[in-house]
Amino acid sequence: MCVSKTRLAVFVSGSGTNLQAIIDAGIPNVEIALVLSNNPGAYALERAKKHGIPAEIADHRDYSGREEYEKRVLELLEPYEVDLIALAGFMRILSPYFVRAYKNRIVNIHPALLPSFPGMHAARQALESGVKFTGCTVHFVDEGVDTGPTILQAVVPVLDDDNEESLLERIHKEEHRIYPEALKLIASGKFRIEGRRVLAVN
Ligand code: GAR
Repeated sequence: MCVSKTRLAVFVSGSGTNLQAIIDAGIPNVEIALVLSNNPGAYALERAKKHGIPAEIADHRDYSGREEYEKRVLELLEPYEVDLIALAGFMRILSPYFVRAYKNRIVNIHPALLPSFPGMHAARQALESGVKFTGCTVHFVDEGVDTGPTILQAVVPVLDDDNEESLLERIHKEEHRIYPEALKLIASGKFRIEGRRVLAVN
């Protein structure tokens, strides 16, 4: 029996270590159909090229506003017939207009245990708050910022001698483990969303 693969678009802005982890995981039921970057200089684009993955650039600075920009991104996506979008260090907030177009089909990774420390500089926020544990979260994207239903989380200790860089490095290791795992789960379809909870189904 031939089961069709989930066609995934990965949205990036920077280094793309999460993209690399998704590529390296070789998730059996997922095909990376597209890498899209808002930043023409993103190293993630080099990673896509190296692996023969189609890439598109939509530089937000070329557009007068969010709506015009997102219309272009939707246009670029169309021919790739994408089922699922994974934000992997994509440093643009998607408006409700875009989120509705891919309702429950956009996921994000965030370097904190949401709902703690949403937004920018999550590791810095964790250090400043004095928590002993932080981590990372893969969640569905809803119309808020870092507020959608949680799919997977991993916990990371905050050590006494940590600075932002060392803490982020530890968080990244866990991100690279749980992001492919979460995508595999979503692509399998073996889950249901109940309110804010994502529950596994057999
Ligand atoms: C990751 O740590 C991800 O959690 C974070 O950007 C980094 C991208 O790294 N995302 C956010 O902070 C979104 N709010 P990468 O480009 O090496 O994958």
